[in-house]
Amino acid sequence: MVNWCKIVYKLIANSVGCLAGWLKNTHLKLSMHYCGNNVMIYQPVVFYGPEALDIGDNTSVAPFVHIWCGGRVIIGARCMIASHVAITSLTHDYNEKEMWKTMLASPVVIEDDVWIGAHAQIMPGVTISRGSVIGAGSLVTKDIPPYAIVYGVPAQIKEYRCLVDTIKNCKEV
Ligand SMILES: CC(C)(COP(=O)(O)OP(=O)(O)OC[C@H]1O[C@@H](n2cnc3c(N)ncnc32)[C@H](O)[C@@H]1OP(=O)(O)O)[C@@H](O)C(=O)NCCC(=O)NCCS
Repeated sequence: MVNWCKIVYKLIANSVGCLAGWLKNTHLKLSMHYCGNNVMIYQPVVFYGPEALDIGDNTSVAPFVHIWCGGRVIIGARCMIASHVAITSLTHDYNEKEMWKTMLASPVVIEDDVWIGAHAQIMPGVTISRGSVIGAGSLVTKDIPPYAIVYGVPAQIKEYRCLVDTIKNCKEV
């Protein structure tokens, strides 16, 4: 026998869930300094200070991503930010006795076509150049050159992407 109560409940719960997600995303996108077209944000995410955050066209941000935007975070177009990634543009001054009162800002730039694997952490002041791949669980403390594949703690360059249409980026060539 069809359980109509269950079906109606599921329909209402799904609709409310979708509406809540849509409202959250709309509010978040409107709060951002810049949000391009077709940016996919999969809730729940945490963006502290979204007014200092740019995200370019067709970029996706997976669930449980944390971004501390206060020092400025610029993410380009067509990037993929996997789940549990943490990006911070803020840190504290450990030379001050009252460390908790200090806030040091250092912008993070993630250029176009970057893929950041799950659980990676991006430190303040870092630029990740276009087309690079950041392995899952990496700790990125330094700038990353274009088309590099990096991973580890701290992240090291392991190789460069071998792209058919831009073969000059292939390390072996
Ligand atoms: C970085 C990455 C793209 C490399 O892929 P790959 O070239 O196929 O790498 P391989 O699986 O051939 O591994 C090559 C070596 O690197 C090591 N390695 C791969 N990824 C690593 C990582 N993230 N951290 C540490 N070591 C890693 C492997 O253990 C292996 O070591 P070995 O040569 O000593 O055996 C991939 O491992 C990765 O991290 N992908 C992200 C996946 C993800 O986060 N998905 C979320 C949804 S998008």
